[in-house]
Formats: sequence, C-alpha cells, structure tokens
Amino acid sequence: MPLSQMRFACIALAALVLAAPGIAPAQQNGLAARPPMGWNSWNHFHGKVDDATIRAQAEAMVSSGMKAAGYTYINIDDTWQGKRDAQGNIQPNSKFPDMKALADFVHSKGLKLGIYSSPGPLTCAKYEGSYGHELQDARTYAAWGIDYLKYDLCGLRTVMKDAPTPEAANKIMVDSYIKMRDALRSTGRPIVYSLCQYGNDAVWRWGTTVGGNSWRTTGDISDHYARMEQIGFSQAGLSRFAGPGHWNDPDMLEVGNGGMTAEEYRTHMSLWAILAAPLLAGNDLSTMTPETISILTNRDVIAIDQDAAGKQGDRASAEGPIEIWTRSLADGSKAVAVFNRHPSPLSTEVDFSKLGFSRAVKAKDLWLHKDLGTISSPYKVTVPGHGVLLLRVSQ
Ligand code: GLA
Repeated sequence: MPLSQMRFACIALAALVLAAPGIAPAQQNGLAARPPMGWNSWNHFHGKVDDATIRAQAEAMVSSGMKAAGYTYINIDDTWQGKRDAQGNIQPNSKFPDMKALADFVHSKGLKLGIYSSPGPLTCAKYEGSYGHELQDARTYAAWGIDYLKYDLCGLRTVMKDAPTPEAANKIMVDSYIKMRDALRSTGRPIVYSLCQYGNDAVWRWGTTVGGNSWRTTGDISDHYARMEQIGFSQAGLSRFAGPGHWNDPDMLEVGNGGMTAEEYRTHMSLWAILAAPLLAGNDLSTMTPETISILTNRDVIAIDQDAAGKQGDRASAEGPIEIWTRSLADGSKAVAVFNRHPSPLSTEVDFSKLGFSRAVKAKDLWLHKDLGTISSPYKVTVPGHGVLLLRVSQ
C-alpha cells in the first residue's frame, strides 16, 4: 500500500474509534477534527483571483501571523476552471498556468491548498463543473496535491428541475454529494469535503451521511452587518448537528473587508467562534490593518472556536436586542457572549446562575485580554452598539 494510502487508512481507523455517537463512522474521513481554518478567495476577489493572488495570500498568511494563529487552508473559489482536454480532464484556465506548481508552493509554506467545483455541469459563475466527471476530477485534484474541496450545488439545479417531485430532486442532490465523497475517498488522498448548498433540505440532518466535513447552513454572506447578523443569529438550535469532523458552516468571514465597524467584526468573529464555525478569512491578507490582524488572530477567541470538545454553542437567552450565547468547553469552562444587536450601547445584567454556574464565577474578557478575577451575579455590563462582551467563564 502506498504511504499516502496507509496514512489515509490510519486516519480512517482513528475516525472509527473517535466517531461521535449517532454518526455512522463509515461516512467520516477522519479530517477536520476541529473546524477548518484558512482563507478563501471569493469574498474579496470574486472572479479576480489568479496564481499570483494565491501566492501572495499564502505568503501573507505566514508573514501576518495568521498561520501561527492556526490558519492553514488557502482555498481557491470559483473561476479557476478552463475547458476539458480530449480525454475529459479538467484544465485550469489561463489565470492558473500550473496548478501542481501552485500546490507545491503553498505546501512549501507549510499551508494547504483548497479548490472549488460543483456537482452540476456549470458552477455558480458559469465555469466548468464536475457533473459526469466526478472520479476524473477527484483524481486530478489528488494529482495536483489539493487538500480541500468546496462542492457548490449551483449548476446541479438545472438537472434537479427535471425531477418529477421535490423528493426526487433532493435525491439527485444527495446522490451527487455521495458520488464526490466516494470519488475523493478512492484517491487515497486526505481531502476535506466542504458541502455548499446553502442549507437546502436541512443539510445538517444528512450532511455527515454524505461524508461532509462541513456544510453551509445559509445563503451567501456579504460585508454588511445586517446580513452577517441575519446569518449568524439564525444558527440558534443547530448545535446538536455539529461535532468533530462535521461542522455547521454559516459561510466565510468578512472581517477586514471594510463594510463593518471593528465592533461589528468582533461580533462576527465571536459569534462564529461560539458556533464552532470554520474560520475562513475572506479579506485581502496582504493589506491588513493591525486592527484586522488583531481580530483575526485573537488567540483566546480562536481557542473557543477550536476547542477540543467540539461542542457548538447556542443561544441561552434573548431579551430584545440583548442575546446571551454560551458554549461548553473541554476544560469545564464556558464561553459566554453577550451580544447587543441594537445600534446604540445598552446596559444589561448577566446572571451566571442561569448559565449553569453559581452566582460568583471567574472570568476573562477575551477582547480586552483582561482577567476579571471573581465576578458576581448580577454582573452589570454595557455592551457597545452591534457589539459583544465575550468572556471565558469558570467556577
Ligand atoms: C456561491 C457560493 C459562494 C461562492 C460563489 C462562487 O454563491 O455560495 O460562496 O462560492 O458561489 O460562484
């Protein structure tokens, strides 16, 4: 057995042992024990992504300290695809002269390379999809050295629309994700499998059975507080579907793209950490301000997202625009986030006895990087407009 396959077999075996209760172990590939962290080209560059962009982002991921903070994947989104050759092999377009050389470059930085396709004939941006070429494409990705695939439904809808019933259409969709799961697996290369079908048909209920390491739960994010807020806070109730190897994905980060205030980006980052969401930065890493870097690389917040227990957090209470979300952590402590969805500052009181603690707790403020010592309920706080107080709390 070649080394790569042996490695894959060991990972698969570990997955059998570690599989979360209720998850069919055979569907897990042993990857993404923690939510994937990295960068994706779409939110900032859209169709204007090329080989040079990817190299620059990889270099910036290292030089900015993002890599040291845990970010690993450099993911090329839509618009890299060219035509197929006479044998049907997918070719990159002229923006990506040599995908294998690009993968080698990214790997030489200690990072991993991700790519994008669709189960349909065409992608969302109308580039070549994998329909009818799943195995061939998976083999091509493996030969290039790809480590992550985002598989985006879009173009398959043209096939699904001819199905006689909505159930039959959903079956086409589910089968298409199974087909690529099996194709990826057959290559023997560990490739994170990221489903993107915007939460259709409650994907969180069946995403693991088609081998998803993550699945988008919503439509696309944009760089506006209202959209980020709508997506992020709509995740209440989904926590039980996520766990090591299989994560809910409320879409990529917009931190640093300029459409929100620093306060709003801290809310974005805090909420995604509570949600155990993949942290895929979506800004230009080569031109980040110190403030953007400090938000994206906040070690205490990343530690919440990446907590070893892999238990997604959820909403504990909502009183008007003040929402408290909590997440249980491996060491017995909890992340407690007090969000203010109102545009102006609001004062409130936190009663830790309602969050599973006795009245007095030890706490650290994860944005101020300040140990608060012992604090007692009711704990009076003022939260900035659209802002957050994020605490790590223990008894
Ligand atoms: C969809 C996805 C986005 C992005 C674009 C690319 O809209 O949800 O994240 O991948 O397609 O065309």
